[in-house]
Amino acid sequence: MGGPVLNIFILCYVLCSNFQLFAANELTANYSHKNLPRVPNSLPSLTTVLDLSYNEISVLLTSDFSSLSKLKVLNISHNNIAELDTEVLKFNNDLEYLDLSRNSLRNISGTFPKGLRHLDLSFNSFRNLSVCKEFGNMLQLEFLGLSAEVIKKSDLKEIGTLQLHTLVLPVENLLDYEPGSLQMLNTEKLHIVLPMGNNYYAFMHTDPYVIMYDAFRTSTSLELSNIFFFISHPNFWRSLSGIVDKHSILSTLTLNNVGLLWTDLVAGFQAVWQSSVEYFIVSELFLLPVIDKIQFNYSNTLMKAFTVKHVHIEIFEFDQNDVYSLFSEMMIPNMTISDANIVYMLCPSKNSDFIHLDFSDNELTDDIFQGCGTLLSLEILVLQRNKLYRLSKVGTMTAQMTSLRNLDVSQNPVQYKDGEGCYWSESIVSLNLSSAEVDESVFECLPVNVETLDLHNNQILTLPAGITKLKVLKELNLASNRLTNILDCSYFPSLAVLNVEMNAIETPSSDFLQKCMNVRAINAGNNPFQCDCDIRDFISREKQSAGDITGWPESYRCQYPESVNGILLKDFYLAEISCNTIILLVVIFITIVAVVISVLCLCKFLDLPWYFKMMWQWTKTKHRTNATNRNPPELHKSFIYHAFISYSQHDASWVKYYLIPNLEKEDGSIRICQHERNFVPGRSIIENIINCIEKSYKSIFVLSPNFIQSEWCHYELYFAHHRLFTENSDSLILILLEPIPQYLIPSKYYKLKALMAKRTYLEWPKEKSKHGLFWANLRAAININLFSPEEICIA
Ligand SMILES: *[C@@H]1O[C@H](CO)[C@@H](O)[C@H](O)[C@H]1NC(C)=O
Ligand SMILES: *[C@@H]1O[C@H](CO)[C@@H](O)[C@H](O)[C@H]1NC(C)=O
Ligand SMILES: *[C@@H]1O[C@H](CO)[C@@H](O)[C@H](O)[C@H]1NC(C)=O
Ligand SMILES: *[C@@H]1O[C@H](CO)[C@@H](O)[C@H](O)[C@H]1NC(C)=O
Ligand SMILES: *[C@@H]1O[C@H](CO)[C@@H](O)[C@H](O)[C@H]1NC(C)=O
Ligand SMILES: *[C@@H]1O[C@H](CO)[C@@H](O)[C@H](O)[C@H]1NC(C)=O
Ligand SMILES: *[C@@H]1O[C@H](CO)[C@@H](O)[C@H](O)[C@H]1NC(C)=O
Repeated sequence: MGGPVLNIFILCYVLCSNFQLFAANELTANYSHKNLPRVPNSLPSLTTVLDLSYNEISVLLTSDFSSLSKLKVLNISHNNIAELDTEVLKFNNDLEYLDLSRNSLRNISGTFPKGLRHLDLSFNSFRNLSVCKEFGNMLQLEFLGLSAEVIKKSDLKEIGTLQLHTLVLPVENLLDYEPGSLQMLNTEKLHIVLPMGNNYYAFMHTDPYVIMYDAFRTSTSLELSNIFFFISHPNFWRSLSGIVDKHSILSTLTLNNVGLLWTDLVAGFQAVWQSSVEYFIVSELFLLPVIDKIQFNYSNTLMKAFTVKHVHIEIFEFDQNDVYSLFSEMMIPNMTISDANIVYMLCPSKNSDFIHLDFSDNELTDDIFQGCGTLLSLEILVLQRNKLYRLSKVGTMTAQMTSLRNLDVSQNPVQYKDGEGCYWSESIVSLNLSSAEVDESVFECLPVNVETLDLHNNQILTLPAGITKLKVLKELNLASNRLTNILDCSYFPSLAVLNVEMNAIETPSSDFLQKCMNVRAINAGNNPFQCDCDIRDFISREKQSAGDITGWPESYRCQYPESVNGILLKDFYLAEISCNTIILLVVIFITIVAVVISVLCLCKFLDLPWYFKMMWQWTKTKHRTNATNRNPPELHKSFIYHAFISYSQHDASWVKYYLIPNLEKEDGSIRICQHERNFVPGRSIIENIINCIEKSYKSIFVLSPNFIQSEWCHYELYFAHHRLFTENSDSLILILLEPIPQYLIPSKYYKLKALMAKRTYLEWPKEKSKHGLFWANLRAAININLFSPEEICIA
């Protein structure tokens, strides 16, 4: 069941580990170092880059690449291919880059795809270069790598029509060279790789002088790698002056991987010095023991830049001045001596032409160029990665360098101690003091006219008060220090670019906005921002003037409080109200007012107090009747009715259709006494009424203006005679059917006035919704267990 899925998974695991998808249209398949005996099949047809280098492939077949119509880069170097029929590439018309170097190719048949820019056939076993006859029409070709045992003019004639950028020619198997062959080529740069180890003996048999003579005359740029064998040819470098001269087209000479005796080396320098060469680069130089002072003729040179880098010196004793003086006296604009372990450099003995000196990656100390007054033209001095310790010494070094503009002393253990004294050349406009060990005291010792100041990766905590203003400082880099706030820019009135990323800034202070008005680009990313009210000024600054905050928004994230850790500042939102006390107070006030108003509205429109009153009364009554019902029934023995109802004839319909139906339950457990209904003939109305009242647990009066005018007179009299009843007004229930203005109540009805004043009546609500509660209340007031009339008879 899961078989195919699993297989696809495994297949994908095996294949995908060799693929990398870059852009949507770039698929790289890397099979380098896989011991493959042949080209893997089932390569994705969209593959654009295929690396098959360092394998054991000996044969290429048409089927290997026929499906890869998008292939641009094919690297098959370091394999065992001996023969190649270019037919195998006939379907790869997009191919631009083909590396077949370091195989065992002896012959190639057919032609390569026309669009190739880079074709490397170097370090193979070609007998001759007849293969080049096929390249004449490859007009896109920029890079060509070749190698052969026999080099002849006729073989190279065809490619002489091509405008090459670089031609690489290893000569390790060269047995026979026809003079003038290289000069057939048309290339900007020629790179000749000389043999190493045992192969150079074979090379010696071909007169190296002849091939060198041609090499120096072929291109404007020449690189020679592996120059060791000339040790046995001491005269070679001395005779070099006969090879290169002022009229050669060669202007850039690079020597790579060089091991020579000092005398031979200096002889070589001398020959190059007075030739057409303008840029001379020596890299990976192995100096051999025995160094003597050698006279050097500095005159008559076209040299502009001299570079020595990566010098390896075996430990032996020599007078260092013999070496350093050779360089310090050179009258050229540009000199670089880097990664050469030099511990010192001499001050030129007379006014020097040096404009640009680069001594990076050495062992130079604070003594360098102290009191040196001959570097008057020097504009750029690079002393990166040396052993400079004291900033005050670095300052005095520049004292007489009146043209110095750029000084790079980065990556030195430089420190500044308070009160050390400080002097800088006023011409300095750019100082790189990054990755040093200075703290904030450095601000007391800086060149006054500096415009660009790089202090990143130091120990600066803050900007000390009272430092001298740097009036023209435009660009200040304080990244990777220990700042807790953005600077007070008032010391730097011209500051336009400020970098304070990766510091300890939690809350960028808000007054920097005013003080750093002129700063048009600020980078404050990757700081541990504290996301609270204070940070909103900073965020709103970005929103106002979009674009001047570098790295926004990705590099700006909240670190504290924990709840917002990792959130982008851009997405951090804190409502205005939680930060502004006035607004907060206003809002609280408004809320209170609103609550009060809504409570009032509720009271007015829903009559809440009425409900509360009714509920209160209902609970009270319930409580009371429960208590009464628990008592022995003797108390109620005298009652036959639950209630007596008195009303005016005008209100009879309400009593008949509303009151009675709502009070009397169907089971007849509530009994009502009406004086009309329960009329005992022969008695007066008053007697009947009194009879009813006395046999009823409660007396209900339905009050209305009519009732007062027609009925109340009966009761006023009665109440006057029965003080007892007056005291126990608990048995009275007044229902106010209609409002009764006070003036309507005649003054003689003092009892009624008193009851009305006490407001101990139930008002008949007009709203239907309130009726339920009204009835419930009324029922609760009269609900009591009474003996039925039959039970009384039995008793
Ligand atoms: C393929 O992998 C090798 C390391 O095994 C690496 O050196 C090479 O650059 C890779 N090739 C490509 C085209 O990325
Ligand atoms: C093969 O050539 C490609 C293209 O330049 C390159 O990226 C890759 O690194 C080379 N492979 C190795 C192992 O150097
Ligand atoms: C390639 O070289 C081999 C011998 O090294 C030879 O037998 C063969 O005919 C050559 N092929 C071509 C096309 O020149
Ligand atoms: C060049 O080499 C090929 C084989 O690699 C050979 O067939 C041809 O004869 C050689 N040409 C000359 C002129 O030696
Ligand atoms: C230096 O070389 C120039 C010519 O290149 C020559 O005229 C001059 O005499 C030489 N000076 C010395 C001291 O050898
Ligand atoms: C000096 O060298 C530097 C760095 O290699 C280069 O940027 C500059 O253009 C050179 N100046 C001259 C005059 O060659
Ligand atoms: C200062 O030097 C460092 C290397 O030490 C370099 O990365 C940085 O770009 C330089 N700064 C300036 C402003 O050139």
